[in-house]
Amino acid sequence: MSGRLAEKVAIVTGSGSGIGQAVAERLAAEGANLVVDYRGHIESAQETRAKVEAAGGKAIMVEADVSKLSDCQNLVDQAWQQFGSCDILVNNAGIEKHAPFLEVTEADYDAVLNVNLKGAFFLAQFFAKRLVDAKKPGTIINMSSVHEDMVFPNFSTYCASKGGMRMVMRDLAVELGPLGITVNNIAPGAVDTPINAHLMADKPKLDALLRNIPLGRIGTAGDVAGVAAFLASPDGAYVTGSTYFIDGGLIRNYHEQ
Ligand code: BGC
Repeated sequence: MSGRLAEKVAIVTGSGSGIGQAVAERLAAEGANLVVDYRGHIESAQETRAKVEAAGGKAIMVEADVSKLSDCQNLVDQAWQQFGSCDILVNNAGIEKHAPFLEVTEADYDAVLNVNLKGAFFLAQFFAKRLVDAKKPGTIINMSSVHEDMVFPNFSTYCASKGGMRMVMRDLAVELGPLGITVNNIAPGAVDTPINAHLMADKPKLDALLRNIPLGRIGTAGDVAGVAAFLASPDGAYVTGSTYFIDGGLIRNYHEQ
């Protein structure tokens, strides 16, 4: 395959649906081979694999629950064993749970933090260790959220995870930069994916949100995938330690009612 990502191998966690699936397909279209991570729904991973192949890439499917460290290690091992390298990590898998702060349970807290933050953290560690051993450069892209920076009432666990992701990214950019590994966050706003199914079905809520989005529309997974491809490619080689907001201007739109 030719393209900006020719000969590159990428792991995209949570790539059976939504943003992860679009990112996998787009990286493949630019020449990469893909490790498609999924949890539970093999048919979703098969759909992603078909899209990757149609885009001209190769794909392997690996079931991994990123909240389990052994599963994270296996994702990296599979990439190296089956493709001989792993150059790009997209920490995309994420969940959110609605609960007013006074009602958040320990189980909710652990579920959200373990997938969104602990999983991304240790997968980055395993990914980077392998690159250091092989003396190769690489890039880590975390799928964060506008809520790494902006409040989201009733989603305090999600905000904790994404706020943590913001600072881990900044720290790793400094620690891993000298090793040739770049680290950046993508911070989507409201995007039409399964995580937002409830929002898309609730017209009054959706209309209220749309009024706060200067570009006047909900984002698409493709809007996000294009920026991921840029960051993963040589065009993004000098970018590290940054968050890219892909939100139609939502985060900048303060106004008094
Ligand atoms: C959340 C969505 C939310 C959007 C904008 C995303 O990170 O996953 O549920 O609609 O931010 O608030």
